[in-house]
Amino acid sequence: MTKRLTANQAGLETAAHILRQGGLVAFGTETVYGLGGDATQPEAVSRIFQAKNRPRFNPLISHFPSAEAAFSQVIASPLAHLLAETFWPGPLTLILPRAPGSTISDLAADGLSTLAVRVPRGEHVLSLLALTGRPVAAPSANRSGRISPSAAEHVFDELDGRIDAVLDTGPCAVGLESTVLDLTAPGSPVLLRHGGIPAEALEKICGPFAFPQSEADAAPLSPGRMLSHYAPALPVRLNATSVEKHEALLAFGPAPLTGAGAVWNLSETGNLEEAAARLFQGLRYLDTLGAQHGFTALAVQPVPASGIGLAIQDRLRRAAAPRPGQPQA
Ligand code: TXA
Ligand code: MG
Repeated sequence: MTKRLTANQAGLETAAHILRQGGLVAFGTETVYGLGGDATQPEAVSRIFQAKNRPRFNPLISHFPSAEAAFSQVIASPLAHLLAETFWPGPLTLILPRAPGSTISDLAADGLSTLAVRVPRGEHVLSLLALTGRPVAAPSANRSGRISPSAAEHVFDELDGRIDAVLDTGPCAVGLESTVLDLTAPGSPVLLRHGGIPAEALEKICGPFAFPQSEADAAPLSPGRMLSHYAPALPVRLNATSVEKHEALLAFGPAPLTGAGAVWNLSETGNLEEAAARLFQGLRYLDTLGAQHGFTALAVQPVPASGIGLAIQDRLRRAAAPRPGQPQA
């Protein structure tokens, strides 16, 4: 049985207690719901991988209530401090060299000499992390390869019975995962994952940074990055310019295509922040309708490549990628 905990003092204390005992609690951050476990206990981290069916070569992000707590586990450069002052609490994950006294288990770090750390935004998640008093490893609270959860209900759909509790902190404000920035490479920082903090905002602080030019370049830098991810059951067709009645439509902007069997408009006004916040919910909604009505595909209208639009495009590209075990089209 997975307990639903309310985000009040009693619920937060119960959640922290479960985490300290080595149990698993999903909780909302500003990005998506994370599946939390005590990063210092290998058994707890192992349970995270089991609950998600996640391949073990995939390192996890550790979450902290403050930059000070995060930086006790890593060697933080002046640039890391500046980024933390500017963007934390918030949707930015920093990859930094592991500090000699780091207490994070090798399993959470996948045995790497670097660690992913972040201070999420949100009153409840910060209280939970402070009450727990340990680094909390938390990947998105979905089964591996599936759509990330942006509401407590989505976590129950994915993991009911497989984890101890869900702390219901309401819907997630940003709606897609944190931006991952690697500060360990020689030379410029490397943007490993587009996310909640737009690249343009980071560039104002860091100056120009490097982008992996291809999936093949990114894979060794960001282990566990999978081309097929966020996958709904329906096949995904990107950049649709027309749509048929046996298809579901993920629309964007004031002129949605007409003729689809079902429509979810990411943002009628063409607002990219609103679109990001509604993306995963929309994919889930259309996927459920698709199963009920026997739709053949999920058509997606183009989304602009600026600001958080780059992160939206990244998630949609992965949703459309060939699935493991599926013949390459
Ligand atoms: O918004 C988020 O970041 C959410 C919430 C729950 O905080 N978490 C999340 O975790 O998206 P996850 O496990 O789904 O994604 C972690 C990403 C992966 O792409 C992984 O490869 C990368 O961070 N990562 C973790 N440790 C790393 C390391 N030492 N070096 C390079 N990449 C790393
Ligand atoms: Mg994930």
